[in-house]
Amino acid sequence: MRVVLHLNTIVRRLYSTCTLSSSTLRKFSTQSHYNMKTDVLQVDPSHFTFKESSCEFGEQNAISIINNTSDQLAIKQAVKWLAQGEAIGIPTETVYGLAANALDASAVSKIFAAKNRPQDNPLIVHVSSLKMLESILPHNKIPDIYMPIIKRCWPGPLTIILPSSPLIPSTVTCGQPTVAVRFPSHPVARALIESCGFPLAAPSANSSGKPSPTLASHVFDDLNTKIPLILDGGPCNVGVESTVLDGLRQPPAILRPGGVTYEVLKQMEGMNGLQVYRKHFVDQALEMAPTTPGMKYRHYSPEAMVVLIEDDKMIINNNDDTQQQQQRQVFETIWQDELKQLLKNGIGIQKVGILKIVEDGDSLEWRQTSKLDEIEYVTLQMGRQGHPDEVARGMFKGLREMDTIGVDIIFVQGVPEIDEGMAVMNRLRKAATKTI
Ligand code: TXA
Ligand code: MG
Repeated sequence: MRVVLHLNTIVRRLYSTCTLSSSTLRKFSTQSHYNMKTDVLQVDPSHFTFKESSCEFGEQNAISIINNTSDQLAIKQAVKWLAQGEAIGIPTETVYGLAANALDASAVSKIFAAKNRPQDNPLIVHVSSLKMLESILPHNKIPDIYMPIIKRCWPGPLTIILPSSPLIPSTVTCGQPTVAVRFPSHPVARALIESCGFPLAAPSANSSGKPSPTLASHVFDDLNTKIPLILDGGPCNVGVESTVLDGLRQPPAILRPGGVTYEVLKQMEGMNGLQVYRKHFVDQALEMAPTTPGMKYRHYSPEAMVVLIEDDKMIINNNDDTQQQQQRQVFETIWQDELKQLLKNGIGIQKVGILKIVEDGDSLEWRQTSKLDEIEYVTLQMGRQGHPDEVARGMFKGLREMDTIGVDIIFVQGVPEIDEGMAVMNRLRKAATKTI
């Protein structure tokens, strides 16, 4: 630990544009006061099915059926904790969530405490049907702008901003007049919310500032002793958080790119002129507001320093083999030069992590290690170049695994901002100590 701290300090000084973040300070100063037993119960998503009616929004008002006794028992146990006002870890298709009854202020406050989440960062409310959504909105009315989007993208990795109502405690909205709502498609999350009969507030189930969890074991690593239960539904198949869409703005804006891509949303009815925050516009007030996801606070950071390498000549065509090779070579040259410079400056680096993408033709081998001049190199592959969805699934997992391996520094290869690549780059830029 002393070596890493020493390295952190020196590298941060060298990278003079970066200051020691509050989350880093917190990492070393917060003591845990928890001693709860954290149970982990396996659930199998394939045992959950949904019965739709034939009406227009039949899919969005479907009823769940759980076809296996042990899964039924796990859901029952989860409902019991949630009804008692506890926060628990649950799988969703994007990342694992730390869920509590969204209508119970005291339950919601346990989410903030367990995650050590800043009090002014509002939560997403998760529903399992349009009926449930209507029940929490002013006059039970969903704004028209969202109807085509709900029909096409829900259930799924999309969060929409809606007017809030007095039913939603201000602990959830942090006093904003709006509330963020999502209808997850993960069968376990859907069935659980339905069985509860109340919506669940759920941020990602990581300690604040750390990379989001895409496996139940990630949740356990961060929140063991702080929560009574984690439902383990296997790996999350999207791997990055939901897209946050504000359709109440004119023109509509993506506040956080995520699982539903800009390319898909911009084609949809009512989405003319759709903008992506920070890519197409920046707003001073929004910049400082905690409601702009991930802007105000440092996010997604592993313990090791992260150096993100964004090539100017970033590939435009994901499927061009020659461009893919060129980009890999540029990445290799830049990280090797950067490492040489750090070593020349006397930084005692012993383990180097390389988080990269592979060319489409290459095999996707998860981990490779080598040693040269007393330095150990660990390479993890996030996914294939032409498959940004694969890269999205591998990114948080890779950042977390680098910490488990105990590397001193991580060089990460940037990806083109196409499809899920936009969400990947949004997270990587926030995780990075330095961007080249
Ligand atoms: O995929 C996801 O969205 C995951 C899973 C668990 O559902 N949840 C998640 O929550 O990523 P969290 O808390 O890590 O990120 C929620 C983001 C916050 O950064 C917050 O700023 C934004 O949603 N948000 C919440 N309420 C908002 C509001 N009223 N207006 C604008 N943004 C809001
Ligand atoms: Mg989060």
